[in-house]
Amino acid sequence: MMSRVLKLSLSVGAIMAIAPNNPVRTVVAFSVIGYLITYSVIPRVGPSFVKIGLKGRDLSKRPPNPELPETMGLVAATTYLFLMFGLIPFIFFKYLVSFGSLANDEVMSENYKTQYQSIKDNKLFPHNKLAEYLSGILCLQSTTLLGLLDDLFDIRWRHKFFLPAVASLPLLIVYYVDFSVTSIVIPSFVTDFPSGSYLLSVVNSFVKFSNHLVTSITGLSFRTLQTDYVVPDQIPKLIDLGIFYYVYMSAVSIFSPNSINILAGVNGLEVGQSVVLALIFLVNDFCYLLSNNISQAAHDSHLFSVIFVVPFLGVSLALLQYNWFPARVFVGDTYCYFSGMVFAIVGILGHFSKTLMLFLIPQVINFMYSVPQLFHIIPCPRHRLPRFNAEDGLMYPSFGNLEKPTWLSTSILSILDAFKFIKLEKDPKSGKIKRFSNMTIINLCLVWFGPMREDKLCLLLLAIQFIVGLCMIVFRHTVGPWLFGYDNLSWGVK
Ligand code: UD1
Ligand code: MG
Repeated sequence: MMSRVLKLSLSVGAIMAIAPNNPVRTVVAFSVIGYLITYSVIPRVGPSFVKIGLKGRDLSKRPPNPELPETMGLVAATTYLFLMFGLIPFIFFKYLVSFGSLANDEVMSENYKTQYQSIKDNKLFPHNKLAEYLSGILCLQSTTLLGLLDDLFDIRWRHKFFLPAVASLPLLIVYYVDFSVTSIVIPSFVTDFPSGSYLLSVVNSFVKFSNHLVTSITGLSFRTLQTDYVVPDQIPKLIDLGIFYYVYMSAVSIFSPNSINILAGVNGLEVGQSVVLALIFLVNDFCYLLSNNISQAAHDSHLFSVIFVVPFLGVSLALLQYNWFPARVFVGDTYCYFSGMVFAIVGILGHFSKTLMLFLIPQVINFMYSVPQLFHIIPCPRHRLPRFNAEDGLMYPSFGNLEKPTWLSTSILSILDAFKFIKLEKDPKSGKIKRFSNMTIINLCLVWFGPMREDKLCLLLLAIQFIVGLCMIVFRHTVGPWLFGYDNLSWGVK
């Protein structure tokens, strides 16, 4: 437990570190405050959550399985949202302060100079940036509400699946008005391929046709304008996806929260993966921010990402301390949705939603692997978390029963078995599949590496997430530019 003196000195240090003209330092200070608030509030409100029924049994502990407060992610999410409101004046400080304000002399004259210059350049208060920021917060608020409703009422899959896309509408509208780039770069090997150009023109015609259709119905036009780009020398091959780019971004906002929620069931894993992802995002952002050869747009996008991710890291680290093995609280779907949406927002409004998918590779693989169970081609039990063995205290893969085998389910399971991607139990006489290990990468780790303790399993999965993330950053800035013929560290959209 953290001593009062330490808490007090951290709070004082954080408050003193707030510097209106230095957004990075200010968000770090807010992050420390967020950490302290979440850390102090969770143990105080936990019993009240249990009292109203927000509790769950830890299924991977010895009987009597302890009953723990559920939905503790609500504390982290609420703290985060309030901090983000509080941050607004600091982030936009340099546009707010006028000559007669209370700032100190140095800050005041600097602001005066930049404001004077802004008026000359016709660049006044960045309403577009504030709109991005507010749309992000609005989206997170509705997502937190959705998560809470799910924890309270266990909403059906088919009902809750599309709701994140509705929550992300404000983001997409701001993206449309403010940025509206819908082109993606085509790697040169595609066009170098004999029929590559032909294929590309077929796709292009299809996209154009669909865009015309949407435009004639809605009156909205979806395309990237030539003036959206700053291209110093060679122009890379682009394909303008138009409306499909918006469909893709909605899909990201549906996928990201749900994918975190289904990579779960081991103490510390939901928050742990979010913390690792946040760190990976920050490494990527600072690759841009510390490089002195980037466009203003790329700088602003990655600063936006840092502003959203750093306070998120603060509240998540506090939550992780309580959720780490042996867990004292559960985070609930509220946290999973909230955290997934933070990443979706940052990816969309930071204009790196494709890089985001690279960082989410473990979640993408877990999702694709889960598809047969999620769509009930293969039976899906209510819980797919690994099985705890009380005798040796280790986690083993959990199994589902194949009661009514179909041609499709047997084929899928046999193919996966042939490549050692699943563990099957067959009837010794008939050779028919009876049971199969549940299709999550958590169980797959146990199939491959053998039984292990819950915290080791969590650490293994987090290490995979971290290594994949680091490799993807390197890939993104080495192999990526080589494949695509450019890197927006040096070439960018306005
Ligand atoms: C998702 C997964 C489910 C997994 C569950 C665990 C899919 C389709 N759904 O469901 O397979 O079992 O998350 O979070 O993949 N729990 C533990 N230890 C933990 C975390 C959770 O025992 O470290 C148990 C507790 O009883 C807790 C419950 O899981 O109350 C929470 O489950 P919930 O988040 O409601 O499950 P889903 O998100 O629907
Ligand atoms: Mg859940």
